[in-house]
Amino acid sequence: MKNKLVSSGLEDVVAAETILSDVDGIGGRLIIRGFPLDALAGRKRFEDVVHLLFDGFFEPLPEPARFAAMLGEARLEAYRIIAPFLDRLAERPVYDAMRIGVAYMPDGAGLADALRLIAAPAVLLPALIRRAAGLTPIAPAPLRGHAEDILRMLGRSKGAAALDAYLVTVCDHGLNASTFAARVVASTQAGLTSAVLAGLGALKGPLHGGAPGPVIEMLDAIAEAGPDADHARRWLTRAVADGQRLMGFGHRIYRTRDPRADALKAALRDLDRNAGRLIQAEAVERIALEVLRAHKPDRVLETNVEFYTALLLEAVGFPTDAFTGVFAMGRVAGWIAHAREQAMTGRLIRPQSRYIAPSGELAA
Ligand code: ACO
Repeated sequence: MKNKLVSSGLEDVVAAETILSDVDGIGGRLIIRGFPLDALAGRKRFEDVVHLLFDGFFEPLPEPARFAAMLGEARLEAYRIIAPFLDRLAERPVYDAMRIGVAYMPDGAGLADALRLIAAPAVLLPALIRRAAGLTPIAPAPLRGHAEDILRMLGRSKGAAALDAYLVTVCDHGLNASTFAARVVASTQAGLTSAVLAGLGALKGPLHGGAPGPVIEMLDAIAEAGPDADHARRWLTRAVADGQRLMGFGHRIYRTRDPRADALKAALRDLDRNAGRLIQAEAVERIALEVLRAHKPDRVLETNVEFYTALLLEAVGFPTDAFTGVFAMGRVAGWIAHAREQAMTGRLIRPQSRYIAPSGELAA
């Protein structure tokens, strides 16, 4: 192994071929199953995009209307599985509770398993949020649209179109850390629940799916510092000078604006054009980009998906600590499709490491 180079972040490594999505980091485009994101987000329901992702990975795949009805039934089934455990689960932080709840799903590889896994986060998160607030969980209504039913289970009646746009926007995104984790597990021929649990573990960290909560904290801290642009500039400049990362900015692949940020901004505008938070956030975004440009002139640090995710999820009624869980509700579709794609290659993912001998150890 001595002469092999180590690529610790694997950014130059192509580890899979996929028909699922393409992240064009230079052009700032995201393609999902041949469609640019803006042809899907805000135009198609989440269940129809899941159908698109699953095409070719489950045989036979029912037509979209039947598929959506089966997803509704799967929500009911997932709810029945987790209902007896909700009280115990609600003692844990919401994302961890959701992960434990998902682990109750059978670990198969068929379409029924896949639909149950799409359904599980969607029923768990609203139930856990309501339990934490001392409210009774609401059972799913299988005939409703997926996004509409999620909000209904949360006790909300508005925002389904915005949540649908969000779930579609985040449903797949190339070989990101959580999708790679899911593919590694699937390459061992373990079941879909195992692959999804790997994805859930990877998504939790703040460098991946854990950023939108901190975005809200950052916006609150800036608002507390003072009402005008000068206060925001001072706060952001100091944060960067102190070595902090501004949450919701920068991306490993995009060297231009993250197209998902625009899709979410559009959905948010449709939801509430005059929301004070949106107006504040747009001002903070503009100043943050100027501060980042001055701080790192040689590196493109643009707005990423998490910035407007935070605002959209807050506007439709999710508490901050549930944001990463809502991300998982959408991304679980991509994890499952990738897991199937990887398992169907039949190839185990098994890279190598280079042993660095402790000082004093004799070379062989
Ligand atoms: N704020 C301030 N500085 C930043 C930021 C930021 N948001 N992002 C990167 N930088 C700086 C780094 O400090 C680093 O500076 P250095 O060279 O002096 O050490 C330089 O830019 C390059 O950073 P890397 O960490 O090499 O860039 P990488 O491609 O690995 O990072 C990442 C991508 C992790 C998303 C990073 O931009 C970040 O931490 N952003 C904030 C957290 C965030 O928004 N996460 C959500 C990402 S989107 C998603 O995963 C769904």
